[in-house]
Amino acid sequence: MKLLVTGGAGFIGSNFVHYILGKHREWKVVVLDKLTYAGNLKNLEPALQEGRCGFVQMDICDRGVLEQVQGCDAVVHFAAESHVDRSIEDASAFVRTNVDGTHNMVQACHQARVPRFLHVSTDEVYGSLGEEGQFTEESNLQPNSPYAATKAASDLIVLAYVRTHKFPAMVTRCSNNYGPYQFPEKFIPLMIAQAMAGQKLPVYGAGLNVRDWIHVSDHCSALDAVLQRGREGEVYNIGGGCELRNIDLAKRILRALDRPESLIQFVTDRPGHDLRYAINCEKTSRELDWAPAVQFDEGLAQTIHWYRDHQQWLDDLRSGQYRDYFQKHYVQRAKTFAQ
Ligand code: NAD
Ligand code: DAU
Repeated sequence: MKLLVTGGAGFIGSNFVHYILGKHREWKVVVLDKLTYAGNLKNLEPALQEGRCGFVQMDICDRGVLEQVQGCDAVVHFAAESHVDRSIEDASAFVRTNVDGTHNMVQACHQARVPRFLHVSTDEVYGSLGEEGQFTEESNLQPNSPYAATKAASDLIVLAYVRTHKFPAMVTRCSNNYGPYQFPEKFIPLMIAQAMAGQKLPVYGAGLNVRDWIHVSDHCSALDAVLQRGREGEVYNIGGGCELRNIDLAKRILRALDRPESLIQFVTDRPGHDLRYAINCEKTSRELDWAPAVQFDEGLAQTIHWYRDHQQWLDDLRSGQYRDYFQKHYVQRAKTFAQ
């Protein structure tokens, strides 16, 4: 099996590469990644050293992807701009990568007759829930952020190719992931990094928004199941069944790191902030015999441990360009909130 993984130098992509190489000793993987601010070759170091993983630095919008996908048995497509707040500040890169880039990948794989294409999408395409209910695969697409809108567009492109060209693709929609190698702009690693440094934890609004957390290894095992046993043209929801309010999660992280709750700083809310996500993944469990295995408490403790053990990895990311983004984004947010 020769697998091409786009976005494999990012958070979930790199975890997926490690998972696949560990589980399938005879498989080979090629990572295709542009290495944006979110891509980091350090995330792939153990795999690149081991010899069954190749790397190509390329933009998914580049026509050259056609040559790269030729001869592959499957493509798993993670590459995307993934951070909601950045899409609110400027959505151009999101439209380019998530929409045009996905179309370019799909077109190339169709032309090269790649036998299987797995499009990794998100529960955010369904929009926001009130206090009750869950997203199923039949829920309407009602994306609210520019990020979610571009992901919904990419899902529709993939599914249109299935319908029109019998393109052999599956789409997955997963809830919020956490675990090693997650870029510290996302909630859990940001809260861990701030708490470790004894700095303020910026919680949006009143912290009452709810997310449904899944450990990244459980997302990876679900993707492996869909890749091997999923039906073409189908959408599969993936979730961890662990709903938490942001404020409660921030407090848990502070407790685990023995830091005071006074470090929490409520800041201006995210515009259009989705209230609640909760995913129903009965179809995936039933059809593919999959279930999440990591209990949240255990997964969070392991994740905190990982960030403590990888201070250098964190320091490298929290310097330079990212520090400027952080300053601009949060210092401004805190000021606006205080006024
Ligand atoms: P990430 O931002 O950590 O990584 C994205 C990767 O894509 C990076 O390595 C980056 O360099 C690469 N990339 C970006 N633009 C590219 C381009 N034009 N060409 C080639 N490579 C490019 O993202 P993530 O959190 O690992 O998410 C991966 C995928 O999973 C995304 O499609 C995202 O929508 C989806 N997803 C994420 C979550 C989550 O909780 N993080 C949940 C559900 C679905
Ligand atoms: O649901 C899946 C999605 O989860 C993925 O598709 C996205 O790629 C991923 O980024 C994530 O989106 P969210 O917007 O839910 O994740 P984020 O980590 O940005 O925020 C989680 C919650 O925490 C959300 O309610 C906003 C809040 N938040 C976030 C940040 C960065 C804060 O309160 N403070 C913060 O500083």
